[in-house]
Amino acid sequence: MRHCIQVRVNGDRYALSVEAKKTLLDLLRDDLGLTGSKKGCDNGECGACTVLLNGRPVNACLVLAVEADGQEVLTIEGLAEGFHLHPLQEAFVQYGAVQCGYCSPGMILTAKALLDENPHPTELEVKKAIAGNLCRCGTYNKVVKAVLRVAGKKE
Ligand code: FES
Ligand code: FES
Repeated sequence: MRHCIQVRVNGDRYALSVEAKKTLLDLLRDDLGLTGSKKGCDNGECGACTVLLNGRPVNACLVLAVEADGQEVLTIEGLAEGFHLHPLQEAFVQYGAVQCGYCSPGMILTAKALLDENPHPTELEVKKAIAGNLCRCGTYNKVVKAVLRVAGKKE
């Protein structure tokens, strides 16, 4: 069974016909070609698929595409402005918080949601925010430093 949905992704409006069982992650990656959101576990465990749904971080593998009807989605592709990286992206590069990069889109979007809500988090608040984003390369300390840097708490 298919449903017609309208969704805004990275500022662009889409009218799409989707299968009832299709996830938002598959919609983004397979239908829209936005492969920055990664499919790690496809089971809500790793956070690699994190996108912002109306500004809040969600695991896109756990959200049905039909649930995004009428909603606003931000993926990592929508974060930079032209050739200008978002400050979080710059800080991740500066602090070496990107190694293989598989977790990075989800980490960065989770951090964006945190800073949007709480522009000056403590180190503990940053650690709690990214607790659901797993990194097999072990970049956690660098991620925390990068986020605190953007929050103006570290040189
Ligand atoms: S792919 Fe969605 S949480 Fe792992
Ligand atoms: S940088 Fe490789 S999984 Fe995080």
